[in-house]
Amino acid sequence: MKPLRLLLIPILVLSTTSTFADEGSLLTDAQKNYVGFGAIFLMLILFLWAMLATLRAFKVISHILLGPEAIAQANAEKVAVKAAKPKASIVNKLLSLKPLSEEKSLVMDHEYDGIQELNNPTPPWFMYLFYATIVFAVCYIFIYHVAGIGQLQYDEYKTEMAVAAKEKAIYLAKSANKVDESTVKLTTDAATLSSGQSVFKQNCTPCHGEHAQGVVGPNLTDDYWLHGGTIKDVFKTIEYGVSAKGMPSWEKQLSPKQIADVANYVKSLHGTNPANAKEPQGDKMASDDSAAPKKADAKGTVKTAMVVK
Ligand code: HEC
Repeated sequence: MKPLRLLLIPILVLSTTSTFADEGSLLTDAQKNYVGFGAIFLMLILFLWAMLATLRAFKVISHILLGPEAIAQANAEKVAVKAAKPKASIVNKLLSLKPLSEEKSLVMDHEYDGIQELNNPTPPWFMYLFYATIVFAVCYIFIYHVAGIGQLQYDEYKTEMAVAAKEKAIYLAKSANKVDESTVKLTTDAATLSSGQSVFKQNCTPCHGEHAQGVVGPNLTDDYWLHGGTIKDVFKTIEYGVSAKGMPSWEKQLSPKQIADVANYVKSLHGTNPANAKEPQGDKMASDDSAAPKKADAKGTVKTAMVVK
């Protein structure tokens, strides 16, 4: 019985249970782990039990083989050895400390006013620990204060803030791309409008004109809309297009963020009265999103009020 081989058993049990769990796929990963650890624990208990049983069996066999006298003699020897050696506790052994009972053997030939000196030097592990702190301190001073390789608290803080800012930017870019026609918001944010403007210049001017005054497609700056003039309507028209009437769908070419940007840019052109404006098409519609921004405003004031408090 090689212990290594025995150790393999729980590992095998673990792997088989996890494959069964995979097939069943009823268990979550965490549950699979519990099953695995449970199996290992059970195996270890069985293993321990088997070892104890074997030990008992060996004891019985040795009693039978050696006979009662030999056993009694061996026990007596054991007791004698134990009695001769003063007991060192496990803690004392581990820390290589001398127990109080050994004090007499440590007394040195040096006494003053009835105070005796013992030959009981600091254990080596403690000294090594002490030397290690010195080495650590020298390295620390060199790395952080002399060579300047390591970052002190403030620099470390700045680095972590920079990393966080990068992650935040990535997160915001991702979440900006999650926008759709039901979540798009009207904004006059300069970055959004300039991004929208460049999208418009690249894709929309041939049909809607340099200033959205209308060419093949309708004038996008007036009060008249064929498909609705709120930000959500405009987003929807741009995303899905009106293929029957020659307005392409931009779902594939533009990212959701780009569509939101260009929709906001179109909205920002409202009322600019460009030259050579095309005649109105569609119905005069409320295009000012009045409901939505007012709500946002109300929310904004509530928020600031809370902040002021
Ligand atoms: C191939 C020409 C063409 C291009 C390119 C084009 N459009 Fe259009 N667009 C049209 C036409 C035609 C209509 C009118 C559809 C209709 O009659 O229903 C239209 C309608 C629209 C409307 C709805 C207007 C309304 O009155 O409801 C919006 C908004 C719009 N386009 C925005 C854009 C944007 C933004 C782009 C660039 C990403 C773009 N269009 C690119 C041809 C085009």
